[in-house]
Amino acid sequence: MRAVPPPVPVAVLVSGGGTNLQALLDALQGSPLARVARVISSRSDAGALDRARRGGVPVTVADPADAGALIAAVGDARLVVLAGYLKRIPAATVARFRWRLINIHPALLPAFGGPGMYGHRVHAAVLGSGAAVSGATVHYVDEEYDRGPILAQWPVPVLPDDTPESLGERVLAVEHQLLPAVVTALAQLGVPERPVRLFARGSTFVTGGEIAVEIR
Ligand code: GRF
Repeated sequence: MRAVPPPVPVAVLVSGGGTNLQALLDALQGSPLARVARVISSRSDAGALDRARRGGVPVTVADPADAGALIAAVGDARLVVLAGYLKRIPAATVARFRWRLINIHPALLPAFGGPGMYGHRVHAAVLGSGAAVSGATVHYVDEEYDRGPILAQWPVPVLPDDTPESLGERVLAVEHQLLPAVVTALAQLGVPERPVRLFARGSTFVTGGEIAVEIR
């Protein structure tokens, strides 16, 4: 009989409220593929830390500028997920976790990304541009802000009466489905040490439908 591999240990880096962390905790609860093994925060007052503690996950508050401390905090986690982590990752840490370090961004990169583009500002910029579509992107982290290869995207239509808040809410709801789908797919692939691209399956404009990514 072939031994079943243990779930892939995932480290999640946070700075804020942690709704994406919560989505991962919920989706991976009891999963044979991946588990949230530790949560690392750039701030000691991040709401995400309470979510981690409630989920029984060990937490660390690490100095974001200290590459060694971050690497030590990640420990033997195989995949590192930035979920609302607002600090730049030191180059030595990026190099250490090449193709095992991913981020979720609340727009369709490469548009509406880069330094200073986070939260409300992203959605205000999308509305200001007149774009008809926004969405969520999961991408690899490399040395440039929001520029690493794209793993998966999911579009969200911009509605005529949208405000940054209303658009942001719909994008966030998509993030909560896309991020666990990507983490699970990567775990299924054994977290390859080369970039992979995952594909959206089904109609991209179904609302309330299930968001799925496909390995091809
Ligand atoms: C999300 O919109 C994510 O895309 C961005 O930061 C936000 C984090 O929200 N990187 P939360 O802390 O997961 O609620």
